[in-house]
Amino acid sequence: MRPISEFINRILCGDCVEVMKDMPSASVDFVLTDPPYLVNYRSRDGRTIAGDNDPDTLARAFAQLSRVLKDNRFCVSFYAWNRVDVFMRLWKAAGFSPVAHFVWPKRYASSAHFARAQHEQAYLLAKGRPRAPRVVLPDVLEWRYTGNTLHPTQKPLVALRPLIRAFSTVAEIVLDPFVGSGTTALAALLLCRRFIGIEVRKDYATIAQQRLRKKGGENPMNTDDKQRTPSYPNRQRSTAPRDGFWATCPQCRHKFATPKAWIVKYLERIGYQAGQAA
Ligand SMILES: C[S@@+](CC[C@H](N)C(=O)[O-])C[C@H]1O[C@@H](n2cnc3c(N)ncnc32)[C@H](O)[C@@H]1O
Repeated sequence: MRPISEFINRILCGDCVEVMKDMPSASVDFVLTDPPYLVNYRSRDGRTIAGDNDPDTLARAFAQLSRVLKDNRFCVSFYAWNRVDVFMRLWKAAGFSPVAHFVWPKRYASSAHFARAQHEQAYLLAKGRPRAPRVVLPDVLEWRYTGNTLHPTQKPLVALRPLIRAFSTVAEIVLDPFVGSGTTALAALLLCRRFIGIEVRKDYATIAQQRLRKKGGENPMNTDDKQRTPSYPNRQRSTAPRDGFWATCPQCRHKFATPKAWIVKYLERIGYQAGQAA
């Protein structure tokens, strides 16, 4: 077992089951993941997903991620609707209870057979009995096409950001053990959270590391996040009370107000510049 500090703000290349075995129990605050779908996925241009036919590895991964997640916290997991029985069995075996379900309607169809496949979906899974978030999200969220240029199942930043905002707070640790091109980690970084990303394929791990190094903002690869929609229904205003405390994120230099003096002390301990305004 290694200290959690050795994993933080890194994209690690390896089998997530083995990597997570080295992480201490109850050490991460939120898991947001998009695992293999167990459907032998093949994109139109022939790209495939590692482990997309391996429910046993997926079961071991969820057992490990449940162990490393703190009690009374959440995991959001995308899944394939036609394999929901397998996913639900392995989530429950790992100790999770489904407490909500998110849907992202899409303007385009990923496939069309008996119906045009025009939505993505994920379950909100609880470990223990977490409190409801301060801002309760609608369960239908915004989606934007990424072009899948970096990864065949690349998720848009805009789809992940509301989840990270709702189910974690500034400086908390967000884990994605199936991070692909690094979208979850980048969304966490842009929201001043710390991240841990794990990816088994070297090529995707490298893409994710490059994306993170460029930090999103100026990165042309993150175009989906640049097209801001003024009418975006799920965007939250900052709810941080402005009573004089502030902190600056060491990663993106974003300066924000914080509600409590003890949060300032905590942020200073983990490398933030923080203080009280005159
Ligand atoms: C559905 S994709 C995630 C795509 C990601 N959401 C994105 O935006 O790029 C799942 C990823 O998990 C990776 N993967 C599969 N088995 C794995 C394992 N045992 N450990 C770590 N990563 C794994 C695959 O290589 C793939 O990149």
